Amino acid sequence: MGKDAQILAILADGRFRSGQELAQQLGLSRSGIWKVIQALQGKGIEIFAVQGKGYRLAQPVELLTKDHIHQIIAEHYPAFPGEVTVLWETDSTNRYLSQQALSDDVAGTSCLAETQTAGRGRRGRSWVSPLGGNVYLSQLWRFNGGPANLSGLSLAAAIAVVQVVRQLGVKDAGLKWPNDVLVNGKKLAGILLEINGESNGPSNVVVGVGVNVRLPDTVQKEIDQPAVSLESLLGRAIERNRFAAYLVCNLYEIYEKFSERGFPAFIDQWHEYDVYLGQKIQLSLPAGDIVGINRGVNQGGSLQVEYDGQIYSYQSGELSIRGQAAN
Ligand code: BTN
Repeated sequence: MGKDAQILAILADGRFRSGQELAQQLGLSRSGIWKVIQALQGKGIEIFAVQGKGYRLAQPVELLTKDHIHQIIAEHYPAFPGEVTVLWETDSTNRYLSQQALSDDVAGTSCLAETQTAGRGRRGRSWVSPLGGNVYLSQLWRFNGGPANLSGLSLAAAIAVVQVVRQLGVKDAGLKWPNDVLVNGKKLAGILLEINGESNGPSNVVVGVGVNVRLPDTVQKEIDQPAVSLESLLGRAIERNRFAAYLVCNLYEIYEKFSERGFPAFIDQWHEYDVYLGQKIQLSLPAGDIVGINRGVNQGGSLQVEYDGQIYSYQSGELSIRGQAAN
């Protein structure tokens, strides 16, 4: 455990600790402690430094631990087959797991990180990944059959995420095709699937899920689209280990159902959660934008757009509600 992780673990309960106390516990000088505090602040942790009292977090932090997550999974899903790895920092949990898959049989593994230095988003964007407040989760799953059998999997994964978020109390969380979780038009979570496989399988799929759990104002400013966090919506702190464990389990249940029945088994749920169903939308494509009515998805998860009296299917594109910028 690095010094930054140790200090954050000591301060996690939100109470004051003096610089001297921290220095003694960590075997550092007081100026060494100050440097680590500044580094933590630079990674998005809000820490107050008060003369005569020391340091305290603006809000308590629940750090992720493998044991805690395993314990919650065992209560909820005793037959759970996978391992969970918790990292303090990595460039991208998706990249980390894809790399692991090259040398080890890690199918079924989930990986969480407290921060990502190069979090990946869809369409080549980056995913802003400050320390200690959000959930960055990747899972490696092996599917029989080639990549062609996986159309709709990212939509099914988004259904798993929206269900967990709703169970937590965000009843108006919904989905925007293909896999954004939105609340009132603002992004709460995103999913990035990375698939490696031969044309007739099996395929290794890394499903990456980023959920905004806590977004300090300083971090919100770095995000180039309207975003919202679970804590701001619910007005309370989130038990991150519990939330992560529920995500891990719900996603696995969805992969199992998808392996058996494919995307058609999810179409009705998709339509239930689709926030723009039946609305006038704009789809941005490399060849230009089209405007039409969102008629939901087909058996393969492609978007159905009605215009000029006909329905057309799209496998990719950036959807926005007519008159608003795309998220
Ligand atoms: C999107 O742009 O909507 C997708 C965002 C996906 C972010 C997650 S965070 C965990 C995993 N690791 C990454 O680098 N990206 C995904």
